[in-house]
Amino acid sequence: MGLFTAKPKSEEIEAHERRLALPLAKPAKIRLENVSVRFDTRQGQPAALENVSLAIQPGEFVCLVGPSGCGKSTLLNIIAGLLPAGQGQVYKDDVPITKAGPDRAVIFQEAALFPWLTAVQNVEFALKSVRDKKARRAKALEQLQMVHLSRFADSYPHELSGGMRQRVAIARALALDPDVLLMDEPFAALDAQTRDVLIGEVQRIWLETRKTVIFVTHNVMEAVTLGDRVICMGARPGCIKQELDITLERPRAVEHPDTARFAQRIMANLQDEIAKIVLEESDFVEAERARGRDDDPDRVLYPHTNTMGDGI
Ligand SMILES: Nc1ncnc2c1ncn2[C@@H]1O[C@H](COP(=O)(O)OP(=O)(O)OP(=O)(O)O)[C@@H](O)[C@H]1O
Ligand SMILES: [Mg+2]
Repeated sequence: MGLFTAKPKSEEIEAHERRLALPLAKPAKIRLENVSVRFDTRQGQPAALENVSLAIQPGEFVCLVGPSGCGKSTLLNIIAGLLPAGQGQVYKDDVPITKAGPDRAVIFQEAALFPWLTAVQNVEFALKSVRDKKARRAKALEQLQMVHLSRFADSYPHELSGGMRQRVAIARALALDPDVLLMDEPFAALDAQTRDVLIGEVQRIWLETRKTVIFVTHNVMEAVTLGDRVICMGARPGCIKQELDITLERPRAVEHPDTARFAQRIMANLQDEIAKIVLEESDFVEAERARGRDDDPDRVLYPHTNTMGDGI
């Protein structure tokens, strides 16, 4: 479209490229090499992800942020094995990822619990491989204790708050003892206080278990509080724009001034991306108007809305 001229590479993107070029002491837990994905749409095959390369170390907590539609969930689904990479390679421990597996547990925005099972039964469901019923129950209760829900083991999902349901989902994912925990905006549907509590719990659980975590969020403060590294993605095509090592000591508080300092650096980059999307949107609307398509009664052009949730 000629609107955006090529900018010199930022320091952060150069750091990202340097990191990828480094010989690794041990295999990355997750590695993506030049991954591109295109979906068939009525507008053709726009790239949801283009040439994304990324290496995540064992035990690393990586947060992905970026404007709506930049491909965060697509990236997570590829790592989960729920979606094939159109082009490029995806590995876990140097083995190509070809399908979903219990070694990569996914937690979504809405806790997908079985409504007819109690909290402990929902967790037990993930433990089907444990044949002994007593051992299975004991393990499920242990996981519920990890998320401070022992007292609600026999409650059904509808008797729990949104935050509690999400904690059951975390307990269920942990019960699988996955190598990698993939979290797609797990706290987006929660109120601010509940979210802060859960950020604290996820931090504590990570410090105890040192799982490799990939965590998608729109909330930059959340990303900085949790991540060893925050990766900022850009849209159209989805790509990595910036990455920042968060060198703050743990445990971290969401409201700490240092957290805000890191968050500001990420926000500056995100604002550019959002501005780009807004410009593209207005260009598109203009072009449609010029073609007289806004007169078409079958076609609805929605006014631009900020769908990016809090934090952006
Ligand atoms: N099944 C699909 N069919 C067609 N296009 C898709 C499909 N899934 C995703 N896309 C497109 O791919 C792009 C990336 O989508 P994705 O859901 O990964 O974005 P996201 O960064 O997770 O957005 P959000 O923050 O809103 O959740 C978007 O342009 C979206 O329209
Ligand atoms: Mg998404």
